Amino acid sequence: MKSQDELKKEAGYRAADLVEDGMTVGLGTGSTVRYLLDALGERIKKDGVHFIGVPTSKRTADYGRELGMEIKSLDDVDQIDITIDGADEVDPDLNGIKGGGGAQTWEKLVATNSKTCAWIVDESKVVDQLGKFPLPVEVLAYGHKQLVKRMADLGYRPEVRLVDGQPFETDEGNIIIDLHLDQIDDPYALADKLSNMTGVVEHGLFLDMTQTVVIGGQDGTKLMNK
Ligand code: A5P
Repeated sequence: MKSQDELKKEAGYRAADLVEDGMTVGLGTGSTVRYLLDALGERIKKDGVHFIGVPTSKRTADYGRELGMEIKSLDDVDQIDITIDGADEVDPDLNGIKGGGGAQTWEKLVATNSKTCAWIVDESKVVDQLGKFPLPVEVLAYGHKQLVKRMADLGYRPEVRLVDGQPFETDEGNIIIDLHLDQIDDPYALADKLSNMTGVVEHGLFLDMTQTVVIGGQDGTKLMNK
């Protein structure tokens, strides 16, 4: 039986084939994407493939540069050909939850400006209904305790994400509130509600944003397409 990590690696390496010479590529964030970056780094060295990488976090920008990639900010490119990113949960409609690593705001910005998107996941992340994975919401630090109260009143079971007892800080200096919803019956209604809450910067519901999911599984790597 392959470990979750091995399945992530297989998905990451398979998705690296989606990148073609000369493309502008959105580079996601997380442990699965790290394998994608390794695979792309190998293609740069072995085949001389050249592409421009648009990172979704400082971590990804740093690691990409280390591997010899040309990294440009979203503001310095015209359009992104493809973005490849990880996800925390994916449902049969290819909607998903992202932000387990706290990078969902840049991830959504990069995805929104891409012609096409692909996610790379291991099979444990493919679910019938979204919501078991706590939904990350990036919020401004100022007033976040009031926001936590409002979310609790709405039954969202919010929890400020902590690292070593201190609030986790995103690349933009914001805070993450994880919502322990257990199941999300109407992701579109919830997305609207969260987007309209003052203080919310971006939530981790990614709806109708990806066309392909590359799934690393015990029986091999599979593709789900929309
Ligand atoms: C980063 O904020 C996330 O959206 C990641 O893409 C997601 O959490 C998947 O991460 P792993 O590949 O580490 O499981």
